[in-house]
Amino acid sequence: MGFSQLLSRMATDNGHGEDSPYFDGWKAYDRNPYHPTKNPNGVIQMGLAENQLSFDLIEDWIKENPRASICTREGIDAFKDIANFQDYHGLPEFRKAVAKFMGRVRGDRVTFDPDRIVMSGGATGANELIMYCLADPGDAFLVPSPYYPAFDRDLRWRTGVQIIPVMCDNSNNFRVTKEALEEAYQKAQEDNIRVKGLIITNPSNPLGTILDKETLKGLVSFINEKNIHLVCDEIYAATVFRSPNFVSVSEIIEEDVNCNRNLIHIVYSLSKDMGLPGFRVGIVYSYNDAVVTCGRKMSSFGLVSSQTQHLLASMLLDDDFVEKFLAESSRRLANRHNVFTKGLELVGIGCLESNAGLFCWMDLHRLLKEQTFEAEMILWRMIINDVKLNVSPGSSFHCKEPGWFRVCIANMDDETVEVALERIRTFVRQGKDADAPVKKKHWQNSALRLSLSSRRCDEGVLSPHSPMTPHLMSPHSPLVRART
Ligand SMILES: Cc1ncc(COP(=O)(O)O)c(C=O)c1O
Repeated sequence: MGFSQLLSRMATDNGHGEDSPYFDGWKAYDRNPYHPTKNPNGVIQMGLAENQLSFDLIEDWIKENPRASICTREGIDAFKDIANFQDYHGLPEFRKAVAKFMGRVRGDRVTFDPDRIVMSGGATGANELIMYCLADPGDAFLVPSPYYPAFDRDLRWRTGVQIIPVMCDNSNNFRVTKEALEEAYQKAQEDNIRVKGLIITNPSNPLGTILDKETLKGLVSFINEKNIHLVCDEIYAATVFRSPNFVSVSEIIEEDVNCNRNLIHIVYSLSKDMGLPGFRVGIVYSYNDAVVTCGRKMSSFGLVSSQTQHLLASMLLDDDFVEKFLAESSRRLANRHNVFTKGLELVGIGCLESNAGLFCWMDLHRLLKEQTFEAEMILWRMIINDVKLNVSPGSSFHCKEPGWFRVCIANMDDETVEVALERIRTFVRQGKDADAPVKKKHWQNSALRLSLSSRRCDEGVLSPHSPMTPHLMSPHSPLVRART
């Protein structure tokens, strides 16, 4: 019996999307990780959307609250009860704390009902769980592009649901328009594909932008008109570091009396807003009773550990801590974003204007030899192999236009950011001045200079009709969670 017959189709197909050249970036990092003293010429990891800027605040709180941890002298009394707890409703105080935190992150303009919170293993599990509740194999969800690459795994792989990209482009800062939505929807109808919903990420990964109120209202009326679901992945809600304020779909439906609430679902997690991806705390918040009931049964496959629930219940119900954490975290993110974008501006590199997220959407289309995804790949390999930065190319986010790169900026310290910036600046300056003698740095090998002088900086025109590259995954952390 061949290997493919011994195992299931799912086990042997490529639905998880991890067998792709984009993992070369991760491999390059794994083989040669940067360290300021032990390996200063190594690869800097900028493909990881982690929020490590405010860990000290959480660590301080843990030290000051030993009773919240069940493995301390002060907290051991709760050990037995918590270690035995496995109810899929979750600890009541945990659900209460998460509901309160969600409200706080949304400026207390809206409240959340703890009884509507369904637990899952991170937003990854939450996104899959909601697909299982809403769609059958073969059904489709519309997803505005560029989008989080692991949606291809999370929404599709095990559920059999299809993704239909809604094409957005730089002509209007990648906004989701009614026309683009209609076009994607109509095309699906023509192809006899049943569209069950629209899923959006707000704030956006990879763009770092937020949806304005008018756009959100437009999306809500679109899905009501078509009688399809709206899933809002709001896991970056507290990463908004500058005005305008984040607007949640929960606020829109408060105002819209005609909205059918049974169609609205929020996915949330503490991976980004609190910087706790390893805790695997994700939730589905659904306004639909049947989804809450069914989702809760499904959550048996991905409960949050009761130890984690117990700890977070205390932490998130501490109003002073939450207040301070949210304010300080966004202040630090703003600062980091400012340093990074200003550092790029020095060599004329721009980023999409943004006010949220743990990354910048960097525009390198001028460095492409021609405006194609092949040229984007060549530049990307150069950045990984020669400049030694692991960034993610736009094509892995299904971006329609070549030349965009997502660069994560919150998973490292200030010194590493400076090193990364200096590498980028040297790279760009060398490109502009390829024939001038260059003072070679350790991390630059001769291949870089050769490729740079043959590359030059062609000012090509972006083609809005560039074909999409075939489905490829990004070297993004959740795909290799075990190793990160
Ligand atoms: C938009 C989006 N949704 C979901 C996830 C998965 O998050 P979690 O770590 O909570 O599973 C990510 C992680 O990067 C993400 O960017």
